[in-house]
Amino acid sequence: MKKVFIILSVVLLSAAFIYATADAVTGQCSNCHTMHNSQNGSAMAILDDSGTNPDTTPNETLLITSCVACHSTTSTGQKNTVTNAPAVYHTTDPGGQGGGKTNAGGDFYWVKNTGDAYGHNVEGIATADGTLSAPPGFDATATSGKTFDGKSIAVGTTWSNQQVTCAGTYGCHGTRDSAEPLTAVKGAHHGNTGGTATQASAPTTVGNSYRFLAGIKGLENADWNWNETAASHNEYYGKDDNANYADTATMSFLCAECHGQFHKDIGRPSSPWTRHPTDINLPNRDEYQYYTTYNVQAPVARPTVPSASSSTVVPGGTGDTGAIVMCLSCHRAHGSDQPDLLRWNYTGMVAGTTGSTAGTGCFVCHSGKDGS
Ligand code: HEC
Ligand code: HEC
Ligand code: HEC
Ligand code: HEC
Ligand code: HEC
Repeated sequence: MKKVFIILSVVLLSAAFIYATADAVTGQCSNCHTMHNSQNGSAMAILDDSGTNPDTTPNETLLITSCVACHSTTSTGQKNTVTNAPAVYHTTDPGGQGGGKTNAGGDFYWVKNTGDAYGHNVEGIATADGTLSAPPGFDATATSGKTFDGKSIAVGTTWSNQQVTCAGTYGCHGTRDSAEPLTAVKGAHHGNTGGTATQASAPTTVGNSYRFLAGIKGLENADWNWNETAASHNEYYGKDDNANYADTATMSFLCAECHGQFHKDIGRPSSPWTRHPTDINLPNRDEYQYYTTYNVQAPVARPTVPSASSSTVVPGGTGDTGAIVMCLSCHRAHGSDQPDLLRWNYTGMVAGTTGSTAGTGCFVCHSGKDGS
């Protein structure tokens, strides 16, 4: 018994040790940090992974790059080749969206190169959206007192002419208490377990929230969906009948923090709807009952955060194989090769079609609306 106890203690201790040191970021400090932004008198800070453009203005947290530069790449690969950060901004055309081309959030390539409507016009990547100075559907009450730092998007007032940022008061990642993106995510990069399928089911810090989205739950796919299949992908969290921001941990609530009316004002609780519903169960009836295998083009969220990703979808289910309609069922978070950050070409969605778009996009759920 004693021997068993000792062995068990050793196992537990080493597990604890591995856990304590498992860091999201790995590699030499100098891959990412520069102590003085100077080496032999030359600036060290770089703007992207070509490494040929020293920036004389030092970055916060002694970093060699900003958020954007670290998370960008000049190649068509998945990561920045110097820092290994997953790329959200390819400076060369990824050639389309989805696995093997972009990470799960899509890419900022198109908002930079094709037009305003192809992505969030994030500061540091694209210039402010020429026609949209505020998030469509903005509702100042959406985050008031609801995010875990108790602070609100846009400081809880109207959103006027402020460009969206990666993180912070006017951004998606991190907390809302600082408008400075690196302050808003401080501690997250070294405080998160990386390279593993991490279950963010009790988000109390930025580091343990789903993808540094403060307070949001989910299951992080180890390679950000680069090798996505029906059985291996991010798992998003959703909640049935959640229109009034009751559950603030869903992926759709993240979007509602800025586009609140599109979540709140859907005409709940049932058909006919007034805006396309989100955070509702995919019903186990009619055309919806046939969505039984997870589709990475039109994904559904789960009412319980799974511990492992699965290809099984149970319309109307309440467990971790259940199905909830969410904003990301149709949109990418960062941007895509389609207007409105859509996951497929909307002009191909033609009622009654038997062509190549049958069974794709909207028809994944509305399976009775194509001609097949
Ligand atoms: C792959 C990139 C990377 C490497 C390698 C790296 N860091 Fe960092 N580090 C970051 C980023 C990004 C931030 C700022 C964002 C944040 O805090 O989440 C940061 C923040 C920090 C901070 C302030 C926040 C905190 O967590 O305390 C300290 C201190 C720090 N790093 C020290 C180090 C040291 C020491 C090393 C080498 C042992 C190192 N870092 C290696 C990327 C890296
Ligand atoms: C110096 C490089 C560097 C900078 C600067 C940097 N990151 Fe990262 N970031 C990384 C690396 C490396 C990873 C991959 C960590 C891993 O393996 O999980 C990462 C991971 C992430 C993730 C995914 C976390 C997860 O759960 O998988 C998010 C989100 C993120 N960073 C956002 C940001 C934001 C927002 C900023 C600016 C406020 C920023 N990063 C600045 C290097 C950087
Ligand atoms: C921090 C605020 C914020 C959050 C959170 C946010 N957005 Fe936005 N969104 C904006 C702003 C500001 C605009 C208008 C300007 C622009 O495109 O950057 C916008 C524009 C859009 C557009 C229209 C793009 C265009 O130019 O026509 C879509 C679609 C969109 N957002 C979807 C989403 C989805 C989906 C989510 C959740 C994953 C989300 N947004 C989360 C701020 C936000
Ligand atoms: C992830 C699944 C899913 C996807 C993808 C999806 N929908 Fe829906 N849609 C639903 C569900 C579920 C309802 C509500 C059905 C109900 O309550 O009977 C709905 C409702 C609607 C309604 C309103 C019906 C009513 O009864 O008021 C329209 C119109 C609609 N969807 C169009 C579209 C279009 C167009 C697309 C593609 C851009 C699309 N949907 C993509 C699941 C989806
Ligand atoms: C069923 C698919 C679907 C879902 C789910 C969905 N959207 Fe959309 N969204 C679209 C389509 C298609 C468009 C563009 C054409 C249109 O508006 O009919 C669009 C347009 C937008 C726009 C641009 C509006 C403008 O004024 O230009 C924003 C912002 C947006 N969606 C945010 C969201 C948010 C936030 C959610 C979740 C609360 C969401 N969408 C859920 C399909 C969807």
